[in-house]
Amino acid sequence: MATQRRAFDDVVLEGDGLRLRRPVLADVPRVVAACTDEETVRWLPLPSPYGPVEAISFIETRAPTVLREGTGLISAIEVDGELAGMVDLIGVDWREQTVEIGYWISPDRRGQGLAGRAAGLLARWALQEQDVERVEIRAATGNVASQRAALAAGFEPEGVLRSAGFTPEGRVDLVVFGLTRDDLLG
Ligand SMILES: CC(C)(COP(=O)(O)OP(=O)(O)OC[C@H]1O[C@@H](n2cnc3c(N)ncnc32)[C@H](O)[C@@H]1OP(=O)(O)O)[C@@H](O)C(=O)NCCC(=O)NCCS
Repeated sequence: MATQRRAFDDVVLEGDGLRLRRPVLADVPRVVAACTDEETVRWLPLPSPYGPVEAISFIETRAPTVLREGTGLISAIEVDGELAGMVDLIGVDWREQTVEIGYWISPDRRGQGLAGRAAGLLARWALQEQDVERVEIRAATGNVASQRAALAAGFEPEGVLRSAGFTPEGRVDLVVFGLTRDDLLG
């Protein structure tokens, strides 16, 4: 049966040593630092150049619009009171009850398993409390760190979509990872 839900709840999620909250203007310097980092720019099609204007627009306009219009949820990952990355629910289909997760981690916070923990926390909340039946993560075949994070979050690799993604370096094949509500029961 299709869900009646049309938007995600605006909540703060805590667990696994991190806090997921709405991004705020105090995050601007760390958003700019992360979104101009070589590894981030390699995999994510972000505006270029990326400066405070782009970060402010992302925080003040895009994040609230996505939430209000029910197309997703953009969450800042906070660790020890500081922005450590961003994780979001994007491309939600309320009829199919499916959504995709995307993430980046601040360069100085990488290698601590944060992406996997943040994706796991957000995915479980979506599946258990937000009428979502299936969450996907799509990672370029060359983006090993992202694939490892998806596995760490408990997602299953399901196959490769050819030429399904776009990075600044060109089109890429994407590994699809899935986590379903039934998976949480097993
Ligand atoms: C991908 C990303 C989010 C991973 O975040 P993270 O919290 O630092 O992830 P971690 O490094 O803790 O864990 C990832 C795993 O990949 C491994 N890894 C990290 N970099 C790697 C690399 N270049 N090659 C191979 N393995 C790598 C880590 O050792 C770790 O392995 P483990 O699961 O066996 O412990 C982060 O690197 C990032 O922000 N990248 C740029 C943006 C991006 O690619 N976003 C995803 C788009 S789909």
